[in-house]
Amino acid sequence: MNLPHPELSIGAQLVPDWHAPYFGRERLPVRIFADEHQAARAVADRIAQRIRENTAADKNTVLGLATGHTPVGVYDRLIQLHREGLDLSRVVTFNLDEYWPMPSDALQSYHRWMHENLFDHVNIPAENIHIPAGDVPRDQLERHCQTYEDAIRAVGGIDLQILGIGKTGHIGFNEPGSPPESRTRLVTLDPVTRRDAASDFFGEENVPRHAITMGLATILEAREICLLAFGEHKSAIVRRSVEEPPSAAIAQYQ
Ligand code: F6R
Repeated sequence: MNLPHPELSIGAQLVPDWHAPYFGRERLPVRIFADEHQAARAVADRIAQRIRENTAADKNTVLGLATGHTPVGVYDRLIQLHREGLDLSRVVTFNLDEYWPMPSDALQSYHRWMHENLFDHVNIPAENIHIPAGDVPRDQLERHCQTYEDAIRAVGGIDLQILGIGKTGHIGFNEPGSPPESRTRLVTLDPVTRRDAASDFFGEENVPRHAITMGLATILEAREICLLAFGEHKSAIVRRSVEEPPSAAIAQYQ
């Protein structure tokens, strides 16, 4: 997929149940929006629809959530919908990842980011919120990751997963080479990913070398996945991800 305009936004939806236009050359269903705002709105409205349907049926809605620039508009719209009456008390969330080591109150912590950008503004019960712990000691990491997987399984799996994509092609922090059967674990960040995060950490040398991330198998078990990518700097990796055959470098599933 070539982006004819730098500001064009993409929402690649891995489960084709929106009756979205399909552009042929891509190996995954893709929707292109006029701008980032419209893409974010479409995804947030989809999430809200799932929440309303499940709540009416007396069921929880399990969301897989991402951090970073990409989902900000989705969270803004969800906050707006909540102010207009959307009830999120039956929502359970699992975040994709967290830097390790990382105190939860640090400026760059994804815990802090999620609270500032979503959780502090909606009524998701605190006990329903799950984020990998960046402050877990090394000797407890394996158990922590297993507990995270168990918690996802215990609520019946993820209904709808939001994803961004890194310039390396990572989803969560599954860098190129991550096995398709991978689960929540400690990973080493790609130098490109650390460079991209440098401004948040006031220098590349301060960016952690590791992170805890849900695995590819964990992510791909979600019943519906919306991968969003915005801007010219993402166009090359989106084209490779949706047009080229699957590989260990750019994994691709349908
Ligand atoms: C963040 C995450 C990452 C980001 C990706 C894109 O929780 O899992 O995979 O989605 O690095 O980051 P942005 O959205 O900042 O371009």
